[in-house]
Amino acid sequence: MKLGKISNSTFYVMVCLTILSFMSCSSDDDNNGSSGAIAPVAQEASDISLTSFRANWNNVFRASEYVLDVSADSGFSSFVDGFDNLSINQLSQSVTGLNSNTTYYYRVRAVVGGVVSGNSNTISVETNTQFPDDVTLKSATENNFFVGVAVSEARTNISSYDEIYTREFSSITAENDMKMASIFTGIDNTGAIIYDWSKVDALVDYAEANNINVHGHTLIWHRSLPQVLENFSGTDQEFEDLIEQYITDVFTRYQGKINSWDVVNEAIDDDPGVQWRDTVFLQRMGEDYVEKCFAFARAADPNVKLFYNDYNMTFDGTKRGKVLAMVDDLLASDLIDGVGYQMHIDYNFPSTQQIQDATDELVAKDVLIHFAELDVKVNAANDLTELTEERAMAQSQRVQEVVEIFNAIPQNKKYAITLWGLKDDDTWLIPENNGRPEWPLLFDASFNKKQAYQGFLEGL
Ligand code: G3I
Repeated sequence: MKLGKISNSTFYVMVCLTILSFMSCSSDDDNNGSSGAIAPVAQEASDISLTSFRANWNNVFRASEYVLDVSADSGFSSFVDGFDNLSINQLSQSVTGLNSNTTYYYRVRAVVGGVVSGNSNTISVETNTQFPDDVTLKSATENNFFVGVAVSEARTNISSYDEIYTREFSSITAENDMKMASIFTGIDNTGAIIYDWSKVDALVDYAEANNINVHGHTLIWHRSLPQVLENFSGTDQEFEDLIEQYITDVFTRYQGKINSWDVVNEAIDDDPGVQWRDTVFLQRMGEDYVEKCFAFARAADPNVKLFYNDYNMTFDGTKRGKVLAMVDDLLASDLIDGVGYQMHIDYNFPSTQQIQDATDELVAKDVLIHFAELDVKVNAANDLTELTEERAMAQSQRVQEVVEIFNAIPQNKKYAITLWGLKDDDTWLIPENNGRPEWPLLFDASFNKKQAYQGFLEGL
């Protein structure tokens, strides 16, 4: 039995098949069944993970189906459950439910006109090795870049969250608690801003106690507007003064404690022909409101790293072009230090090349790079009622690719990868999509590490 590589005689069989189609070819290889049906050529496995891989083979002319065997034994004396003579009508098959760090073998046969060919060559494949328990996201990225998670202040007080936050992550971002609507609660009768600092104070203390970085999110965002600003009855100048006051007060209070902030979030319009999203900030402060906010922030504390953060950056080249042109303008005035690409992506979209190209464009700028808000949808088509092993593997592969792309960024430009939540059932995507099931994060609802977690580590 041949292992791994394609034998010369098998190659000869393939050439015969391609050139002569209907003519019969002779070979002394055991790949031709006595029936005359041509055996496929098994190819190297792909998408190898801890517990799965994808078996691949070539097309056989007029084959109506293929049959696959997978075994932990090169002699195929026994088979992996469900993979004994498994009938398949495509040229690859995901093999799941395997043990880690184990060698498996596969071979395939073609069925042509009801006749089954002999066996293909045999491919051997070794599943990945489980990372030891003391390897964490934090330890694996130490001194390289921050690995962050979106948290809520309330969850830092729940031991099962706290245990993972502190074990796995070197940075936290408040999913909601540091947004303007959470902090800026009103205006008193002297015109001064009324603040509720309680959750931010608690998060900052938590981070300090656990030696975790805090990335602030977000000072200015049209979707987190205090009621009093929405219906503001003062002049435009008074509105702008309040924004300056707010930014200054936040930076002053957390000086030396929050060292980076998303200053403005999602200011660029999705319509290709429109530069600025129509928001109250645009209406009240004019087209240079983004620049003004960055200038207020810079003046309030020159040591804080200032970020712009937006979505669809990896696949909407037009929007990205607008964002990067704005970044150039801010750089020209030394008002920006970093850019967050929100990574709300799918297991199969956008393409790896699109993510790579978008990243390359950002690497060409003199900014820190944040892969922000990472989550990987697996059920956008609503075709799952539970997370299948195959989809979990595809998700893991995707996470691995994203981490690989980030990790290849020049060291001095890597800021952080931030997961947008800890565990699947906490994701914003479920309420956002009216309850559609989704499993986009690295931990399952029971706080267990998913394959996607391993994918993150493998990406490093
Ligand atoms: O606070 C109430 C709570 O009291 C109530 O029980 C609950 C019932 O649904 O609602 C709670 O508020 C919700 C809050 O999330 C906390 O769960 C808000 O209604 C809801 O609008 C809010 O959604 C957040 C959304 O931003 C809007 O602020 C999501 O959690 C958060 O993930 C999402 O994050 C944004 C980023 O900041 C910017 N980029 C896009 C991303 C996704 O929209």
